[in-house]
Amino acid sequence: MAPVKELTVGQVAMRSGVAVSALHFYEARGLIRSHRTSGNQRRYGRDVLRRVAIIRVAQEVGISLAEIAQAFQSLPEERTPNREDWNLLSTAWRDALDHKISQLKKLRDGLTDCIGCGCMSIDKCPLRNKEDRLAREGTGARRLAVR
Ligand code: FES
Repeated sequence: MAPVKELTVGQVAMRSGVAVSALHFYEARGLIRSHRTSGNQRRYGRDVLRRVAIIRVAQEVGISLAEIAQAFQSLPEERTPNREDWNLLSTAWRDALDHKISQLKKLRDGLTDCIGCGCMSIDKCPLRNKEDRLAREGTGARRLAVR
């Protein structure tokens, strides 16, 4: 049996694993769209599942809803986004994602080393951040800062 083309909010919630309240929130923020039936019930095109999945994964890696909403503005409203449309969005996001990946790698690799935060609490701090000299560069974990 072919999958149905239009979904109720409950069906979207069930397939995506996202609560109905979150779906309503995404819709209020313009991240997803629905139309109303003659009985005033919401119906979503099946492609909403892809949008919701991307929203969730993007949020998990620290991309804000505002950034996601901005990126989604490049997607067409009048038809289901195709692979080319998603490719354009991917290109627009590439720098931001590269930056996040770089931050995550630094965090992963820095967890057992001095991160230059001023705590002077691990054995490598006197070597890596002698007398907290990195404080002159600015606030926070100076050795994790992505330039
Ligand atoms: S880990 Fe905080 S200053 Fe070294």
